[in-house]
Amino acid sequence: MSARTGVTVQVPATTANLGPGYDCLGLALGLHNEVTLARAGTLSVEIQGEGADSLARDASHMVLVAAAAACAAAGREPPPLALRQVNRIPLARGLGSSSAAIVGGIVGVDELLGLGLTARQMLDVATAVEGHPDNVAPALLGGLTVCCATDDEVLVERLEVAPGLSCVVAIPEFEVATHEARRALPDIVPHADAVFNLCRASLVVAALVSGDFAQLGEAMRDRLHQPYRAHLVPGMAEAIAAALDAGAHGAALSGSGPTVAAFMAGGGEEVGAAMVKAFAGAGTTAVASALALSPEGARIVT
Ligand code: HSE
Repeated sequence: MSARTGVTVQVPATTANLGPGYDCLGLALGLHNEVTLARAGTLSVEIQGEGADSLARDASHMVLVAAAAACAAAGREPPPLALRQVNRIPLARGLGSSSAAIVGGIVGVDELLGLGLTARQMLDVATAVEGHPDNVAPALLGGLTVCCATDDEVLVERLEVAPGLSCVVAIPEFEVATHEARRALPDIVPHADAVFNLCRASLVVAALVSGDFAQLGEAMRDRLHQPYRAHLVPGMAEAIAAALDAGAHGAALSGSGPTVAAFMAGGGEEVGAAMVKAFAGAGTTAVASALALSPEGARIVT
């Protein structure tokens, strides 16, 4: 692969866990960030959109950390890079903004420098930077992904969701830091709860692939993380219940939250409005947004 002078990568938002599939399941959504990397004399960072006032402007920027990790995996020294980011994915809301940055950095630098990393190697690097695979896998590969992180590598299957499913997200105005949401989880869970989740995580995958979406209401229930995170997201349980009452097939906390993602056939305006109202009843201001599913993952656009 030959090296290039500048590369733009478009990377989708993601929703991870899908209820019971903690650190395993993820789905790419039709909302995209753009990451542009170019060789430069000195490092520079330009950010438009979400995070323009808060994200790092130095080598600690997640895109550049990931680009450096990709170079290290390929045995190369990273050159100084000019980064330009156009961000549409809200930060720290459970929609995969950090995964989009990480995957954008890896795919971008691989193309820019001709590193020649395979998709499997990129996934390993992205997971090492992010700490868990379930957002970076759909950001990289698109569609529905099932991940299994071993001690040495990340095993992944990418699957197509059957046609006819759409997603509405209700995005609270506040942020939840993933590391805090992970700290809220217990070290040990009851065996019955583990069994509850493994039945449902398997059923989520089967229902999404077969198109038997009516199963999602039960299949997206979770006992391994949502109950322990409820105090971080006032109105979470109410928003999930309201989505189901308004006709959604299934709903769950998106990643580590605070966003709730609901899935239905059709437009979903009523589901979005019901979730926003339920959040408001618990004192949480949220906005609803209808998002397509994204069969495509990270894509080089220039
Ligand atoms: N599986 C991760 C978690 C996703 O729930 O902590 C983070 O977005």
